[in-house]
Amino acid sequence: MADLFETQLLGGTVPLKNRIVMPPMTRTRTSEGDLPTDGDLPNEMIATYYGQRASAGLIISEVNDVDQSSHGYARIPGIHSEAQMQGWRLVTDEVHRHGGTIFMQLWHVGRLGHSSLLPNGQAPVGVTGERAAGSEVFAHGPDGRLRFMSVETPRPLSTDEVSAMVGTFAKAAANAREVGFDGVELHAANGYLIEQFMNSVLNTRTDRYGGGSMEDRTRFLMEVVDAVVAEFGPGRVGVRLSPFGKYGSMPADPLTEETFLYVVEQLGRRGVAYIHLLYELLPEGNMEAAEFKPRYLDHALLAKARAVFPGAFIWCGGFNDRERAQASLDTGLVDLIAFGRPYIANPDLVERLKHGWPLAVADRSTYYTRRGEVGFTDFPAYPIGSAARDAA
Ligand code: PHB
Repeated sequence: MADLFETQLLGGTVPLKNRIVMPPMTRTRTSEGDLPTDGDLPNEMIATYYGQRASAGLIISEVNDVDQSSHGYARIPGIHSEAQMQGWRLVTDEVHRHGGTIFMQLWHVGRLGHSSLLPNGQAPVGVTGERAAGSEVFAHGPDGRLRFMSVETPRPLSTDEVSAMVGTFAKAAANAREVGFDGVELHAANGYLIEQFMNSVLNTRTDRYGGGSMEDRTRFLMEVVDAVVAEFGPGRVGVRLSPFGKYGSMPADPLTEETFLYVVEQLGRRGVAYIHLLYELLPEGNMEAAEFKPRYLDHALLAKARAVFPGAFIWCGGFNDRERAQASLDTGLVDLIAFGRPYIANPDLVERLKHGWPLAVADRSTYYTRRGEVGFTDFPAYPIGSAARDAA
């Protein structure tokens, strides 16, 4: 059983300093690109933010668009333009300068989108034409102002477009590698495009990516994984899954367990380094309201998954102290623990957990604002002087 502060060789090739992961968190501090095709851009401030947190065993970046059609949420960066690549290069250089390891998370939002964010006001694309009724995204209202807006009815992707999308993910991974990322994580959770394909109820397609058989409904994920592993090499690709999650108006799927175990087994065969699991999110699309539901994945199911996957499991969802994290590692079911919110206000979270120093608490109103450094890069490391006083 691993200690939280023990090293790990992820995927047999990426050395991690400890078992603590900073998971993807949307912080909306991007800059606007000069051209609409630039997309939203990482910048110096974002580089500072990640660099401050480089003592994590693994940082997984906030989510990134693989192309313009994946932009389902305002102020989310991407990795499809030259300007975005330059921005991300600042980040990887800063993290590496501080001795950290960073993977990039990639997504396509699929039907969780809004035309106000898409080129020429086009409709979002989806696995089918079914709207994610009840889901909202941060997009432009009729007055042009950003606010939470109901998602729009998607246009179903053609078979050729799905195949082409595999190449789009591969190109995004190649771009991430070019600008210095140590690996990539595919967002196959929370009702975004990849999960839309995997859901046997939502995916009513009848082509080779259709929901009727296990192979067909997981084909998009597997083709993307193969293409991305070919870019990065085995051991440098992770996949985030949220079985039983309802986020993104995902319909309950009677085949969830079967699909999950099949996917995990296949990902292991394909050289995937880790599976990143998270608690179910509440159905509000509103990130201000999104809370992780305190529900563990069934341990018996996780044990079955572990038996068919040789890589690592990351567990994310509500962790905020050393004891519960260590107890979760002690189950032997997971290898790495992700701390989301605690990373907002504690850049030195690893040191604080290790020494038992108190954790700072962030002000929720600064999570997603454009108020620059406030609530973003202005959290100090724990003052060592006071640590010595505490110990005295
Ligand atoms: C998610 O992973 O569910 C997610 C990511 C980015 C957002 C909102 C939700 O802005």
